[in-house]
Amino acid sequence: MTPEVRPIGKPVERVDGRLKVTGGARYAAEFKVANLAHGVLVMSTIASGRIRSIDTEAALSAPGVLAVITHENAPRLNFPERPKAIDDFVAPTFGRSFPVLQESTIYFNSQPIAVVVAEDLEQAEYAATLVRVVYDETKHVTSVEDEITRAFPSQESLMKEPLMGRFADVVRGDPDALSKAEVVIDETYTMPVEHHNPMELLSTIAEWSGDKLTLHDKTQWIFNTQRHLALVFGLNEEDVHVICPFVGGGFGSSLRPWSHPIVAAMAARLVRRPVKLVVQRSQMFSSHGHRPYTIQRVALGANRDGKLTAIVHEGYAQTSVYEENTEALVNATRMLYASPNCITKYRLVRGNIQTPLYMRAPGESSCLFALDSAMDELAYKLKIDPLEFRIRNHADRNPENGLPWSSKSLLECYRRGAEAFGWSRRTIEPRSMRDGRRLVGMGMSSGTYPVVRFPSSARARVFNDGTAVVQSSASDMGPGTWTTMAIVGAEALAMDLSRVRSELGDSDLPRGSVHGISSTTGSVGSAVHEACLAVRAKLLALASGDQRSPLNGATEEQVTFADGRIALKSDTSRGESYADILRRNRMESIEATVDSNPTDEEKRFSMHAFCADFVEVRVDEELGVVRVARVVSACGAGRIMNEKTAVSQFIGGIVGGLGQALFEETVMDHRMGRFVNANLGEYHVPVNADVPSIYSFFVEERDDHVNPLGTKGIGELAYAGVAAAVANAVFHATGKRIRRLPITLDKLL
Ligand code: MOS
Repeated sequence: MTPEVRPIGKPVERVDGRLKVTGGARYAAEFKVANLAHGVLVMSTIASGRIRSIDTEAALSAPGVLAVITHENAPRLNFPERPKAIDDFVAPTFGRSFPVLQESTIYFNSQPIAVVVAEDLEQAEYAATLVRVVYDETKHVTSVEDEITRAFPSQESLMKEPLMGRFADVVRGDPDALSKAEVVIDETYTMPVEHHNPMELLSTIAEWSGDKLTLHDKTQWIFNTQRHLALVFGLNEEDVHVICPFVGGGFGSSLRPWSHPIVAAMAARLVRRPVKLVVQRSQMFSSHGHRPYTIQRVALGANRDGKLTAIVHEGYAQTSVYEENTEALVNATRMLYASPNCITKYRLVRGNIQTPLYMRAPGESSCLFALDSAMDELAYKLKIDPLEFRIRNHADRNPENGLPWSSKSLLECYRRGAEAFGWSRRTIEPRSMRDGRRLVGMGMSSGTYPVVRFPSSARARVFNDGTAVVQSSASDMGPGTWTTMAIVGAEALAMDLSRVRSELGDSDLPRGSVHGISSTTGSVGSAVHEACLAVRAKLLALASGDQRSPLNGATEEQVTFADGRIALKSDTSRGESYADILRRNRMESIEATVDSNPTDEEKRFSMHAFCADFVEVRVDEELGVVRVARVVSACGAGRIMNEKTAVSQFIGGIVGGLGQALFEETVMDHRMGRFVNANLGEYHVPVNADVPSIYSFFVEERDDHVNPLGTKGIGELAYAGVAAAVANAVFHATGKRIRRLPITLDKLL
C-alpha cells in the first residue's frame, strides 16, 4: 500500500533551522553540566618509539589542576584485538583499536599521551604545556612511495563475505586484454592525505553516576559510540547513554569513537566529576582519521571506435601500523563503464600515522579522480569528445555481476547536464578557448555511489491532540535529517507536516543506523516509514473493531488515510480522525516501534546513484591560478525527499570537491613523520570567494527496489566526481594533465 503523496519532493525549510541560527541547537560541548572539570590532551612529538619517562610533577602542582593521567596511572581498559566485531560496518575492519593511555608505545606523531584535568580550561591548557617527556625514538615510516614494495592485501579482502563491498582482487574476462588493445593509456594518479576539518571540533562531556556513563559526544553513529565505550569500560550497553542531537559537520570524521570520549570518561571517573574534553583544531589532524594517501595505476584500452576493451586499476592506500583501514578505492572501476575485461587490485601500505577513515565519498572520489581522468586522457587520444566517449561506454547492466540496475539515469544526466552547461559550445582541442588572458577549460566526469541500506529501528507515536512524533537514535550531521524524518513521517501518517515532529540523537531512542555512507534517509527513513504504517494499522484496527466508529468492520482495502483521518473509500465523509479514535478509547497516544531491514532486492538488482558533473575553469596563463567559473551537476537519485535540502547538500558536496581538486592537502614532513600544516591557515578549504555559480538538479527517477521510500543517498555522490571534472577542465584549458591533487599553481607553471 502506497500512502498518499504529501510533503515529499516539495521544498521544505529545515525544521531545526531556527534553532540553529539562534544558537538554540546544542552541540556536544555546549550542554550545561554542573561541576564540570576540563581536560586537555598532551600529544607525542615523535612518530615512533617509546616513552622512556613522563614527568607530570610541574603540571600537577599548577593552579587548578585536579589530575594528570598518563599510561603510568591510567586505569586498565579493554581494547579488543579485532574491532570488526564492534565496528560492524565502518573501517577499519582488522587490527586493534588504539589503546589510549595504556602503553608507552608511540605509534604515530601527535598521538595522545596524557590528559590534564583542571577546574577550568585555561588552567588545563597551561598545565598541559608543563608535562615533560623523554622518548626512546625508533625509525618511523610515513612515505607510501618508500613502502610500496611491502604492500599487502587487506585481511578483509581475504574474507569470504566482506562487509562493505569487495576488496579482493578481481579479474573479469581476458587478463591480457590490455596488451591486445588498439589504443592504450597507462598512468599513475596520486591523492594526498586530506582531513575533514568540520566546523565542530571533536568533543565529549562525560559524566558517571555509579556504573552508568552519560556522554554528550559528537558522533555520526550514536550506537557505535555506545557499544565501543561499553566494551572498553566493561559496561552493559544500556548503561552507556549517548546524546548527540546535532553534529556540526562530520564528513566521516566522527563515524567511529576515537580516543577522546574514552579519555573523558576515564578522567571523569578519576576526578569524580563530569569532564569536558574538546580536541583542539591542531590536534584534530591526528585525533581522528583522514582520507588516506593513495597511489593508483589506471590503464585503459579501447578499440578505435571508442569502445573500452580493457581496464586495469591497481590501488595502494596507506593505513596505520595497528589497524587496516579499507575503502572502496577500486570498486567503482568494476561497474561504472562497460568493458568485457577488467582487472582490479587493492593493497595496503603501513605507516606511522593515525588510522585513516572514510572521508566524504571515501574510496570513490579517489577512484573517480583516477578513473575519470584516465577516461578523459583516452578520449583525447582517440580524438573523441569526452562526453561522447562516456556515452559510448555506458554500462546498461552492472558489468561486475551482470545484474540489472534498480534504476539508472546516467544517460539522462549526461544529456540534461550537457544541455544546462552548454557543452556543445566547447571546442575539442586543449588551449582552444580563451577569455582575454585566461585560458578557458571545460571538463566533465561521471559520479557514482552505491545505495546502502542498514538495519535500523524507529518509533512513531500519534497523540490525541492531532500531532505525532517519529523517533530514532540516529544523529544528524547537517544534511537535514531532522527535517527529512518529519517529512517521511508526515507522508506515511498522512498528516500535515506542521503536526509531525522528529526526535533524533539519543541512544535511549530506538536504534538508528549510522549517519554516513549516504545511507541515513534510506535506512532510518525506511524504519520511520514502516513505523508510521504500523501505527496507522493500529489506529484502523481500533476503529474497525469498535461499534461506535463509522469505520466499524472496515478493512485496510476499504479505507483511505488523509489529513490525519481514516475514511471509507466509498464515502469519504464517513470516517474519523486519529485524535477522535484515540480520545474515544481514552488513549493519550498510540505508538509502534519497528526494526526495518534490507530485503533480497539487493541480490536481484544493482543499486547505485549516478550523476554527471560539468565544470568550467579559467586559468591565468602567466600565474597558473585556477578559478572555477561554473559547475553544473545533474543527478538521478530516486525519489528526492526534500528538494531544498537535497540541492543544498549537493552544493556542499560540490564545494567540498572543489576543495579536493584545488586546495586540500595535509602535508607530511617525512623527516619528522609529522603533518606540518595542522591548522586552517595552511590547510586550505574553499571560502566563499572560491565558490562559483553552482547549478545542481535532479532528473526524475523512480526506483521500486532500493527501499520502501525509493530514495538513494546523495551526500557522497555530490562529491565523488568533482575533482576529476576539475582536472579534466584544467587539461582542456592548459593542455597540462595533473595527476596529483590538489591542482596548485606550481604544478601548472
Ligand atoms: Mo560519510 S564519509 O560515511 O560520513
